[in-house]
Amino acid sequence: MAAEPLLQVRDVARRFGGIVALDGVSLDVPAGIVFGLIGPNGSGKTTLLNIITGFVRADRGTVSFDGRPIRGLPSYRIARLGLSRTFQSSRCPQRMTVMENMLLAAANQSGESLGAAILQFRRVRAEERANLERAREILATVNLAAKVDELAGNLSGGQKKLLSLAQALMSEPKLILLDEPVAGVNPILVQEIGSVIRSLCDAGRNFLIVEHNMSFIRATCDRVAVLDTGRLIAEGEPDEVLARENVLRAYLARPTAEAPA
Ligand SMILES: Nc1ncnc2c1ncn2[C@@H]1O[C@H](COP(=O)(O)OP(=O)(O)O)[C@@H](O)[C@H]1O
Ligand SMILES: [Mg+2]
Repeated sequence: MAAEPLLQVRDVARRFGGIVALDGVSLDVPAGIVFGLIGPNGSGKTTLLNIITGFVRADRGTVSFDGRPIRGLPSYRIARLGLSRTFQSSRCPQRMTVMENMLLAAANQSGESLGAAILQFRRVRAEERANLERAREILATVNLAAKVDELAGNLSGGQKKLLSLAQALMSEPKLILLDEPVAGVNPILVQEIGSVIRSLCDAGRNFLIVEHNMSFIRATCDRVAVLDTGRLIAEGEPDEVLARENVLRAYLARPTAEAPA
């Protein structure tokens, strides 16, 4: 018998007014792999991540994580169960240092609002030596050790993505959801982010990644699922899935997105 998937999505649907963003999506994300979720612009990828992490409510369907139903739970409770995420655009306070942003992430994950976390920042800083140690270790694993005292605003686009990943790792998550981790990142750093993710996966972290960069997907993901207009149209190994005719057609129908070929 196959092991229980780490994340199980069943028949999830969501409309925004007249727009059907998700139209009955079912998906199993097993443990131990890097799982890619791709699809043309507007196909529902971010909405699905938002539903999984409790930022948007589903109209119907179920989501289970690590064997527990999580649909309808507030986002901070889902995060505490071990499901951590990054956002499409960086939300780091730009005038705080890399280390301060890491400590802020730790404070946030304890369920405080961002505002409360900032207000209590000095006290938090005094209290959390363990977090400081942990943050240093994580920054080293994502190749940001030299940037500890740099202002977040001075990092390159790719380094900001690495910082978001590092922040997501602060809570020791069982599954990390990354929304476009290499969008707008230069090719050298794209490769670096890919190999950081691969080594984290080898070290036991699990990933669900939404991304448009197909060479990154091929190089980084063990398995990939394709959304098109709110429906899952393909799933399997990246090279095989990206060569399927219906997948190519879905991308060709929306020429703004990067096509798989
Ligand atoms: N908060 C919202 N209000 C209205 N429409 C939305 C909202 N969020 C997403 N949509 C619509 O739902 C569809 C899917 O969007 P999204 O999940 O962001 O797609 P993707 O991440 O694949 O580009 C799009 O048509 C988008 O315009
Ligand atoms: Mg999106």
